[in-house]
Amino acid sequence: MRGNDLNIGVLVSGSGTNLQAIIDSIEAGCVKARIVCVISNKADAYALERAKQHKIPAIFIDHRDYNTREAYDRVLVEKLTEHGVELVVLAGYMRIITDTLLDAYPMRIMNIHPALLPAFPGLHAQRQALQHGVKISGCTVHFVDAGTDTGPIIVQAAVPVMDDDTEETLSSRIQKEEHRVYPLAIHLYAEGRLRVEGRGVIVTPHIAHPEVSFQNPPA
Ligand code: GAR
Repeated sequence: MRGNDLNIGVLVSGSGTNLQAIIDSIEAGCVKARIVCVISNKADAYALERAKQHKIPAIFIDHRDYNTREAYDRVLVEKLTEHGVELVVLAGYMRIITDTLLDAYPMRIMNIHPALLPAFPGLHAQRQALQHGVKISGCTVHFVDAGTDTGPIIVQAAVPVMDDDTEETLSSRIQKEEHRVYPLAIHLYAEGRLRVEGRGVIVTPHIAHPEVSFQNPPA
C-alpha cells in the first residue's frame, strides 16, 4: 500500500454494507485510502466480521460501560488517534456524537444518511419519506457538524419512490446508491478535492456534468 494513502477509521453499529462498499473500492484501487480500524458500539455488528475478513483491526467498545456520551467519545478519540486516523467515516453508526469527537476531527468526519437532506433527518428516514408521500428520495454524504444530519453536503444521489414501496424496498433502492456515492466522497476527500465554504462543499477541479433531469413519474 502507498505511504501517502489517507488513513480512515470507520464507526459502525450494524451490518456494514457501506463499510463493505468502501473496502471493495479501496481494494479495487478506486480510492487512495486505507482503513486502519473499524470500531463498533455493538458487539454483534456484522461490520466487525467484514473488517476481520479483510484483516482490518475490528474493535468493539461498549457504550454501556460509560456514563456519558462524552466519556465514550473520549475513548473513541483515543483509539482513533492511536491508529493514526485522519478521516472518520460514520457508516451506519447509530449514536449521537459529541463535541469531544467533533473537536478532535473538525470537518474530518463524514456521514451517510438515507434521504435527500435537509429532508427527513434523524431516525427512520425512509419511513419519513414514505409517510410524507415524496416521489423522489435518495441519500446524502455530508460532513458532520454539531446538528443532526445538518453538516455541509458533499454528494447526493436520487432514486424514485414507487407507489407500492415498503420501507424495505425503498431502503434497498437507496442503499445501491449509498454504495456508489460513499466511496466517491472518500475518494474526492483523499485527493484533496473538497473545500468547505460556509454551508457548501466545493469540488475541485470542477466535474463536468451533462445536462440531466430526473422526474417521477416519468412523462
Ligand atoms: C445505511 O442505510 C445508512 O444510510 C443508515 O444506516 C444504514 C447502515 O447500513 N444510516 C443512518 O440512518 C444514519 N442516520 P450498513 O450498516 O449496511 O452500511
